Amino acid sequence: MPAKTKVVSEEQVLHRKLLRLWQRGQSAKCEVRGSDIHGRGVYATCFIPEASPIIEYFGERIDKRESERRALRQHAKAQKTGGAAVYIFTLSKRHDIDGNFPWNTARLINHSCNPNCEAWIVGRKIIIHALHDIQSGEELTFDYGFDVDCYEDHPCLCGSANCQGYIVSRQQWAELEQRLKLAARKRR
Ligand SMILES: C[S@@+](CC[C@H](N)C(=O)[O-])C[C@H]1O[C@@H](n2cnc3c(N)ncnc32)[C@H](O)[C@@H]1O
Ligand SMILES: [Zn+2]
Repeated sequence: MPAKTKVVSEEQVLHRKLLRLWQRGQSAKCEVRGSDIHGRGVYATCFIPEASPIIEYFGERIDKRESERRALRQHAKAQKTGGAAVYIFTLSKRHDIDGNFPWNTARLINHSCNPNCEAWIVGRKIIIHALHDIQSGEELTFDYGFDVDCYEDHPCLCGSANCQGYIVSRQQWAELEQRLKLAARKRR
């Protein structure tokens, strides 16, 4: 038996747990600031070389069924409050990451049609990496990869020279162009 035992209260245990969660969702390479794109955004606090890891998109690993349930709930809440939509990230065929937690700083990264970051799946984690060299003070952005089917719900304010006007996955830009042309023809 040890000569001395230290008693740790439940509050201290909880506090340490929360501190660990909080620390895992932060990175010395970025910080939260008001964004020109929308609400709050995440900004580089130093030079970040291409392909280097920046921050974990840290949330709860959930199966697809639970993911669908939460996505619907988050979407309904966003429609009511006008707040941000869904924080669910695809991890694998069976699992997703729900990042809707205050300690997950990466949840505040905005979308851009000309992003400087991308998400890599590293084992069971989602890690945000630099797509190219990022200068200190630049806002971090990635392609949200939203489906073209609901483009009208997500106007894009990224301000980049090649902004498509809507938050839609780059892979569906050709389809978006067709739909925008069709919609313009109908209005005439
Ligand atoms: C996950 S949040 C990102 C953080 C958000 N700026 C905030 O303050 O909560 C995602 C939401 O931010 C907004 N957003 C992100 N990128 C945007 C963009 N390029 N143009 C317009 N709104 C954007 C949309 O409302 C989107 O649903
Ligand atoms: Zn844009």
